[in-house]
Amino acid sequence: MQASGVWSLQPLADMSAAEFRDWQALLEDRTGVVVNEQRRAFLQTSLGARMRELGINDYGSYYRQVTDGPRGAVEWSNLLDRLTVQETRFFRHKPSFDLLERYLRQRVDEVGQSRPLALWSVGCSSGEEPYSLAMVTTQVMEAAGLAPLFGVTGTDISLNALGKAREARYAARKLDEFDAGLVARFFIAQDDGRYQVVPNLVERVCCARLNVLELAKAPMSGMDVIFCQNLLIYFRRWRRREILNRLAERLAPGGMLVVGVGEVVDWHHPALEPVADERVLAFTRKG
Ligand SMILES: C[S@@+](CC[C@H](N)C(=O)[O-])C[C@H]1O[C@@H](n2cnc3c(N)ncnc32)[C@H](O)[C@@H]1O
Repeated sequence: MQASGVWSLQPLADMSAAEFRDWQALLEDRTGVVVNEQRRAFLQTSLGARMRELGINDYGSYYRQVTDGPRGAVEWSNLLDRLTVQETRFFRHKPSFDLLERYLRQRVDEVGQSRPLALWSVGCSSGEEPYSLAMVTTQVMEAAGLAPLFGVTGTDISLNALGKAREARYAARKLDEFDAGLVARFFIAQDDGRYQVVPNLVERVCCARLNVLELAKAPMSGMDVIFCQNLLIYFRRWRRREILNRLAERLAPGGMLVVGVGEVVDWHHPALEPVADERVLAFTRKG
């Protein structure tokens, strides 16, 4: 026991150039996420931490384990959480949510209660974004005197993040900037100091695993709102454009796509019009 404890504290050897290229390619191939030379140390530390837990001391053996059939798939799923950035916040990038509110007021007027509004958070992480979408939509519908007839879909590649999103329980610090009314309306304080999203908001949000590289398999269509913020930034430019082209096809006529500011430049889609607001990057579908 003691010997293995001592061993586990030994630093791992540096990754060779060939090993770095293999891991880089695996991650990009499976997730789209690019680990460039500047993030090499991050890749090495993240892999190293997991390899120590498993008692593996060379990157090549671990690579073979991760790429080895169904057993590898389970390990890959564990590793993914260490290799992807899952940081998120409620109402992240306020101008996007201000735009959402304005857009929904108008959309609710047009659609009324003829059908449920459909919203989608692409790369939803632990749920803060889809619940933020649900809070804004609830408030807009309430203000219009309508029942909350809508659904939010949150999708992510990480099962661990999706588990947190489904649990819908957040540390108090996550709600620091909320006004008291919003907390009282949408959260229930728990004995452990965390805050649970109220059941009638949770039941409007459905979270599912989806790799954005496999959008062709996704059943979503006719979406009124798609949020895709802080995900494409990790991808190559050509891939960002491809993904946005696929997302544009999933919008309902008049639907709105919101992307993180600066995450794509010079992207146009024949069916979309840019929203004239320089604080946001958003497009609406014509017709
Ligand atoms: C930085 S978080 C952004 C969360 C949220 N959209 C926001 O703006 O706060 C990025 C999320 O994208 C997910 N992700 C990374 N690659 C993905 C892929 N290929 N398909 C789907 N989700 C992916 C990660 O697991 C992570 O939860």
